[in-house]
Formats: sequence, structure tokens, C-alpha cells
Amino acid sequence: MCGIVGYIGEKQAYPILIKGLKRLEYRGYDSAGVALINAHCSTYKCRGKVSDLEAEVEGKNIEGTIGLGHTRWATHGEPNDINAHPHTSMHGKFIIIHNGIIENYNRLKSKLINRGYEFKSETDTEVLANLIEYIYLKGKVNAVTAVELALSKIVGAYGLVIACVDEKDHLIAVRKGSPLVIGVGSGEYFLASDATPIVEHTKSVIYLQDNDMAVIGLNGMNLKNLNSKQSGEKKPIIHKLELDVDEIEKSGYDHYMLKEIHEQPRSISDTFRGRINPATHELKLGGLHYNMDALTNAKRIIIIACGTSYHAGLVGEYLIEEFARIPTEVEYASEFRYRDPIIYKDDVVIAISQSGETADTLAAIELAKEKGATVLGVCNVVGSSIPRSTDGGVYTHAGPEIGVASTKAFTAQVTVLTMIAMQIGQKSGSLTKQEYSDLIEELALIPDKISAILKKSDEIKAISELYQHATNALYLGRGYLYPVAMEGALKLKEISYIHAEGYPAAEMKHGPIALIDENMPVIVVATKDKSYDKIVSNIQEVKARKGIIIAIVTEGDDTISKMADHVIEVPESDFALAPLLSVIPLQLISYFIAVLRGCNVDQPRNLAKSVTVE
Ligand code: F6R
Repeated sequence: MCGIVGYIGEKQAYPILIKGLKRLEYRGYDSAGVALINAHCSTYKCRGKVSDLEAEVEGKNIEGTIGLGHTRWATHGEPNDINAHPHTSMHGKFIIIHNGIIENYNRLKSKLINRGYEFKSETDTEVLANLIEYIYLKGKVNAVTAVELALSKIVGAYGLVIACVDEKDHLIAVRKGSPLVIGVGSGEYFLASDATPIVEHTKSVIYLQDNDMAVIGLNGMNLKNLNSKQSGEKKPIIHKLELDVDEIEKSGYDHYMLKEIHEQPRSISDTFRGRINPATHELKLGGLHYNMDALTNAKRIIIIACGTSYHAGLVGEYLIEEFARIPTEVEYASEFRYRDPIIYKDDVVIAISQSGETADTLAAIELAKEKGATVLGVCNVVGSSIPRSTDGGVYTHAGPEIGVASTKAFTAQVTVLTMIAMQIGQKSGSLTKQEYSDLIEELALIPDKISAILKKSDEIKAISELYQHATNALYLGRGYLYPVAMEGALKLKEISYIHAEGYPAAEMKHGPIALIDENMPVIVVATKDKSYDKIVSNIQEVKARKGIIIAIVTEGDDTISKMADHVIEVPESDFALAPLLSVIPLQLISYFIAVLRGCNVDQPRNLAKSVTVE
């Protein structure tokens, strides 16, 4: 959470910072600010979006070829002008932007107050700014040493960019727990929480590792690891970005979310690319090459994730148990990490994350590693922290997901989990050769089937219009479709602020049925599968209580269409692949309802795309 950008070079920093902040706004959007290092150092910040900051800055001095920018998701202190970043130390020597949390800030703050420091904001970041300054002035050390000494007293997570007004020829960047990428241009450097603000300037990037500190000047940069026993410099590894600017633009769509929903036929094809070959019936996941033995011999697989990635994990549980016959558990990373779970050395833990930066998932990975399990990652953002901290894994290659509500990342995660389950099943023999080949062929058809569903957008929009004023909604599904129901409910609540619950359909009788009346839309994911007859009975139970049924059914279904108020048909598929299709109408329903309600679809209130705080 929070987006940070920085620039040092010969160009004017302000336009680069503002554009970069707009790209990072998905990480947090309750306040924004910039600092420009010129003769006087100008800092501008305000509550609201980056566009509010632009209005605030109009007509003011924005000169400067070095600068920092921040877009905030509040942790310490409410979103207001004062708590917005950058923060300046009391005597004005240091200007800081920060993504993360300083856990011991209260104790440090009291000590600094006893030494005469006064604070303007309620943030933990201002405490760090003042601590660095205190050490700098008292110890008469240079800025880099002051930062190093201050960080040795800090407990917490940070991605930091720091400027010292006495040393205007460089910026200091440090990473521990919160991501930071350096773009290397010609005679200029860019800093950002992820590569999206950098890609249009340079494709050469350095991903800082935990405890890395970079001192970046006009003539070059020095990198060292503050934890390393070896003193001295570390050689930076320069990666080439594979991202294109087009991928991070709205490309004519009204919202990123809509664009990303429509990208799914392509993003799923990208997830397969080079991995499945329907002609030869081959499937190969290069990232698991060294882990296949661990996977096939695993006594148990534990999937850890948060939010939508957790729902993909629930589909993964069904897939792995069906195709690979290995007991599988799925757990919220935030629960797993705090409950001292029993983990054996022959367990395989699979962490799923779009961003690859979710703090709870990262902490759960560390715990599983400590206990000796093999840990694999299923992540979207290349070079992010999770793929770097796991023993192996598979990138989803869905492309950048910018809308805060996850859509194409979910289908890409389910696709990867399907391939993992199939590969284990094939190696262990629990899938027959025929089943395996049929599944590869079926999987290859999914993108076209999604395209067919997307063509029904107008029909789905018309149904959505009828329920835009609903105050509650119930989503039901069974088997593979139960996690889809949960995902549909999450999508609706997070972007339209309508209360929604996802339930296994049979559980309805154990409580939720009491909620059903003539005003309650019940969205039933009821494509043809093993429990079809059972879900038909569940639909009848809702109808008997005058509930409204919106059913997602298989093309040609003439049983449910007679009972439901509305049906949305999706093409037939193997039961195990049905989540990849049936989730699409649910994504569209929540999108249309949120737009009709005037909600900010891409930046829903209180949320941020990348949850780097626990
Ligand atoms: C919901 C959503 C979140 C994320 C969750 C995990 O639409 O996007 O629930 O799925 O914050 O994020 P990642 O996958 O980045 O670990």
C-alpha cells in the first residue's frame, strides 16, 4: 500500500512524478504529495487523489530536477493534508516518503519529544524523518550514515526514498518488506514501488532486495546490503522489463476493471503460452522443474493466500484433490501465520498472490520455510517479493492488473492451479493418459468460450440494472462453483458496497435461508456438474420463499431456465474448468452495478491493490 516515486536526472522531475503517481494510485489514493529539490525545496501535499494534488500545485514553483512523490493508503493517522507524504524533519534537513509501517514509532517518538522534537503529523514516517535528522545533527555524520544508524533502531517494514537538503546531489532509497524498483536511464534514475511508472522511461530496472540501500546520484549509484556481513558495495543486477506501456493504459475502456475483464481470453492464453500444447497433449511448467518430485511425493499440500487469491486457492483444493489425489488445505495467510500451524518437511506450501507483495502471505511463506516445507509461488508480478522468496513457482503472466478488484488475475491463478494439478496427476498416474489429454484440449478452448460470454455483456447489463438498488445479495454454488460464489460476492461488495455473502448452496438451509424474501437477489452458479440436481432443489427452496433467482447455467439448460427469474448461459466445459467460465458473468454483474450506483470502480473506498501491511 502507498505508492512511491522518485526521480534524479536532468529533466524536470514534476511531470515524471505526477505521471508516475497516477500509475501507482491503485496502491492507495487517500492523499498525495511531491517534494521538488530545487534551491529552496518545495513540498506540496493534500488529501485526495493525485488530480487534487495537481490542482493544489497549480501556479506554484515546480522547478527541480530531483524529486519524490507519494500516494497514500493511511495506516497511522487519518487521511488529511498534514499526514500526507512527503514528511519533512523538524529542522527541514530531511524529506522522506515511506511505504510500510514503523512498529516502534511510539517509543521513538516519546524519546524524540524528550529531546525537544515537535511533531506536526500523527504518522510513523515523521518519526523516522526526525530520528534521522536527530542523529545527523547530533552525531555530525553524513546523511547516508544517519539513515543507516536510524534504521538500525527501527522495527517494521519500509520502502523509503530520502532526500537531504544539505546533500542535494543524491537520493537515498532503502527497502525492507515494501517493494522498491530503480529504473536506470541514461544519466538519470527513476524510483518506484513497481515498474509501471518506470516503463515508459527505461526498460532497465534493479529490484532492491530486503535491507538494500541505494545511494543514487547523477553520476551513478552505490548499492549495499545493510544486513550483509561483507562490508562494501553490492553489484546491482539489471533486469529487462517485459512490460509495455499499452498494457498499463485503459485503451479506450471506461475503467481498468472492464478492460481487465475483457482481456481474459488473451490473458489466459498468455498463461498457457509455451506451457500447453493441445496438438501433442503436452504440458510443461518450467518453474516447477526442480519441485515436481516434492509435489508428487507430498503427503499434503497447503495453499495460502488472501482475498480473491484465496478463492482461487479454494478452486485449487478441488482441482488438486480430484486430479492429483493429494490432501489439500487452503488457508488465509493471515490466520496461518499466527496460529503455529503444524507443518511437516514433506508438505508443499503454495502461496498465491497477484501482487507478490501481500505482507501476510510473505510472512506465512517465511513461517513455512522455517518449518522446512517446500514453498512454491503462483504470482503475477514478475520480480516481486513472493517469487523471490519461494523455492520455485509459476508466474500467471496475466499482465498488469490495475483495477483494485481482481479479475483476470483470478482466472490466471485458477488456470495455473489447473495445470499444476494436472501435471501432478499425470506424473503420479492418478489421471489416465486419456483424461490428461482431454483436459489439455478442454483447457485450450477456454479463451474462446470466455469471448463468447463477453459477447453477452448487454444482456448481463440489463439484468444488473434491475438490481442496482439491492441492499443485500446471496451467492450460492456447490463443489467447484462454491468458491466462484464467494468470489462473486466479494466482487459485488468491494466495488458497489452492497452487502453480499457467498455460501455453499447446501448450507443455505442452516441459516441464510432466513434472509430470503421477495427483495433478496440470489445469484446461483448452477452450471452442469455432479451436484446439478442438488442445486436445482436449492433453487426451488429459494423460489418457495419468493427469493429472486439469477442463475448462471450451462448453454441449453431448460430446467433451471423455467424456475429462475433470469438466466445467463455459459458454454459447456469439463466440470473442473467451469469456474473459469462461470466467474465471468459475476465479474460483469458487479462491474455494471457499481457503475450504475456511481461508485469508483477502479479505486473503491478504503481499499488498495497491494496490501503490504499486515
Ligand atoms: C479483491 C482483491 C483482493 C486481493 C488480496 C490479495 O478483488 O483484489 O482481495 O486478492 O488483497 O492480493 P494478492 O493476490 O496481491 O496477494
